[in-house]
Amino acid sequence: MDESIWETGEIFKNEEVLNEHYTPDEIPEREEESAELVRGLRRVFRGGEPKNMFLQGKTGQGKTATARYVLDEFEKRASQHDIDVETIFQSCSNHSSSYHLACNLVERFTGTDPNGHPQQKVFDKMYAVLEERAENIVIVFDEIDSIGEKHDILYDIPRARDNNDIEDTKIGIIGITNDSTFLQSMDPRTKSSLYDGTIQFDAYEADDLQNILQRRVEKAFLDGVVENSAIQLCAAYAAQDKGSARQAIDYLYEAGDVAIDHNSSTVTDEHVREAEERVNKRNVTQSITGLTVQDHLTLCAVVSLALDGNEPARTRQVYSEYSNLTRSIDVNSLAMDRVRDHLQDLDMIGVIDGELRSGGSEGGKKYYWQLNTDIGATIEVLQEIDRLSDLMELIASRGNEQLSRYS
Ligand SMILES: Nc1ncnc2c1ncn2[C@@H]1O[C@H](COP(=O)(O)OP(=O)(O)O)[C@@H](O)[C@H]1O
Ligand SMILES: [Mg+2]
Repeated sequence: MDESIWETGEIFKNEEVLNEHYTPDEIPEREEESAELVRGLRRVFRGGEPKNMFLQGKTGQGKTATARYVLDEFEKRASQHDIDVETIFQSCSNHSSSYHLACNLVERFTGTDPNGHPQQKVFDKMYAVLEERAENIVIVFDEIDSIGEKHDILYDIPRARDNNDIEDTKIGIIGITNDSTFLQSMDPRTKSSLYDGTIQFDAYEADDLQNILQRRVEKAFLDGVVENSAIQLCAAYAAQDKGSARQAIDYLYEAGDVAIDHNSSTVTDEHVREAEERVNKRNVTQSITGLTVQDHLTLCAVVSLALDGNEPARTRQVYSEYSNLTRSIDVNSLAMDRVRDHLQDLDMIGVIDGELRSGGSEGGKKYYWQLNTDIGATIEVLQEIDRLSDLMELIASRGNEQLSRYS
């Protein structure tokens, strides 16, 4: 092995602040959203109940960071006001139902998992546990969409006091979701009677991202190492794609590594370009390679439609493309309902994005699907999967001209 690969380079000063789990100490780009949250919480200081709210927006929009930041402030101020407050931050990403989520909360505070008991019993236990903790509790359910269609916990907690499941403790819920269909899937009347609204986190624009990166650069990198144009390029790439701060920060971090690989003492545009490719490829590889054959075939159909400029596409369109593809390589073809399930699965992991919209003549709401990952990187990764290489060649040859636009 070449010794130089072990070089640490003179680029970073404190790269930990580029990690996912770092909570920024200011979030000026989300001032309005934070203020909205504060309005819901400050009632507690006047003896009122905290509002139940949802935060919604695509991934990387600062929802988790904003919630953490505001709740920290809330706790600090509560102790200044001498008000008994506890905030509970609960990630839901590993919990596929309300029941599991409630079990997890109970286990978290008692050390005993009530799994196996009837749901009402688990909820009662949860209330007993919460009631012991503080007079005012705010629970953040982050990535609440993971609980799927079983929303009981979101309906039950806000009613707990009216139902006498809880006597004194006031509980507020902040639900965070990346998936716009989740809130649409809740019962609208119940939602509007129990929740005071949704705070929307719109995608960051390039100049927001630049400011976010600038602040991070000052903390993470040695002075003067990152060229200004390199920051702008990271921001521009992320803005063009999803407007995600996470993505912008990932590019920046990787660009630092690329600079070290090139033995450079500065981070340049060229390094950012290489970093962008590395990060996209890695993200796509992570989400795609472990999937089933039928997931892959469904994804190939979406890619194929994307290459032809035919997205977002209805389930029926994706199915028709899927059928063409499976026929052409002679593999077992599933029924449309099953392909829809695979589309949902791909949506869950963020490879594609499904949106419910009112459908034309037939009425009712229909799903529209589109690719959510970088198309060039997606094609590359799919081509590297053995059993798909023939199929991808077919798709790529058909879309060769379009493909060249992306590479
Ligand atoms: N306005 C901001 N200022 C500083 N950092 C931010 C800002 N918005 C997002 N981030 C950072 O970007 C990353 C993604 O943000 P996060 O809150 O996890 O997004 P979401 O929960 O919406 O997916 C985190 O590392 C977070 O610290
Ligand atoms: Mg989050």
